[in-house]
Amino acid sequence: MKNIAIITGASSGLGKDFVRQLDSKYELDEIWMIARRKEKMKKLADNLKNSKGIVIDADLSKREGVSKVISKLNAEKPKVLFLINSAGFGKIGSFTELELDEQLDMIDLNIKALTAMTYGVIPYMPKGSKIIQIASSAAFLPQPGFNVYAATKAYVLHFSKALGIELKGKGIDVLAVCPGPVKTEFFKVASSKGKPLDWKAKFMVKSKDVVAKALQDSEQNKMESVYGIPMKLLKLISRMIPHRWILKMFKWN
Ligand SMILES: NC(=O)c1ccc[n+]([C@@H]2O[C@H](COP(=O)([O-])OP(=O)(O)OC[C@H]3O[C@@H](n4cnc5c(N)ncnc54)[C@H](OP(=O)(O)O)[C@@H]3O)[C@@H](O)[C@H]2O)c1
Repeated sequence: MKNIAIITGASSGLGKDFVRQLDSKYELDEIWMIARRKEKMKKLADNLKNSKGIVIDADLSKREGVSKVISKLNAEKPKVLFLINSAGFGKIGSFTELELDEQLDMIDLNIKALTAMTYGVIPYMPKGSKIIQIASSAAFLPQPGFNVYAATKAYVLHFSKALGIELKGKGIDVLAVCPGPVKTEFFKVASSKGKPLDWKAKFMVKSKDVVAKALQDSEQNKMESVYGIPMKLLKLISRMIPHRWILKMFKWN
């Protein structure tokens, strides 16, 4: 029986770095990469050193996209040692300014696809396997101007922490990764300016460093991975100070 990892959002950013670092750190027969841009994933697969890269082009915001992956899993019945749900996007803008459809799409991908992928993959995960869910520091407190996105990530954080407790008996660890701004294609999609607000841009970090810390935290069976002192401080502040005070302190949009 082959040992595999499944990584959504593998065509760029954090997902792509997870593919690279899993390939170099672990002995996996295959890494299944899922996203819509096939060519980007093929290029990545061709450059893997240890594992075979399997490219699955699927739009996970649609139920058929998730079914395509789960059907392959049901047919091949591998052991899934890692499930990494990194596919996700955000749209900057206030709730009434943004199109309804793009906000519902965020919920479909960031919440529904992540939940459905997790549900479909767990039966193939043996004791000692890892689920890594990409949440965000946006999960720590409500964000005016990034409202629905932050709310989807609060779901990911809470869902993952509770799931980790539920899966203790099966020996499956669940880690929620909560990065601040990371240099990826994320802001090209999120904003017409292609960059975050100026004060947020000051905290931009490298994707490979967030991924390395997440894998280290996952090895240590932690529940949450927060990279860098500024985001650790944000987490602390968001738990100590009433949210309405924090929301008054910053310019959010
Ligand atoms: N960058 C940041 O500042 C930041 C901070 C905190 C959390 N995050 C979270 O980190 C995760 C990864 O984002 P990133 O920063 O790596 O951004 P990214 O470079 O834009 O990567 C997003 C990935 O999601 C995939 N994706 C988007 N829509 C999809 C769909 N409908 N079906 C399947 N795959 C889809 C994209 O692939 P295709 O376009 O090829 O489909 C891409 O591989 C996201 O969940 C994001 O919310 C990012």
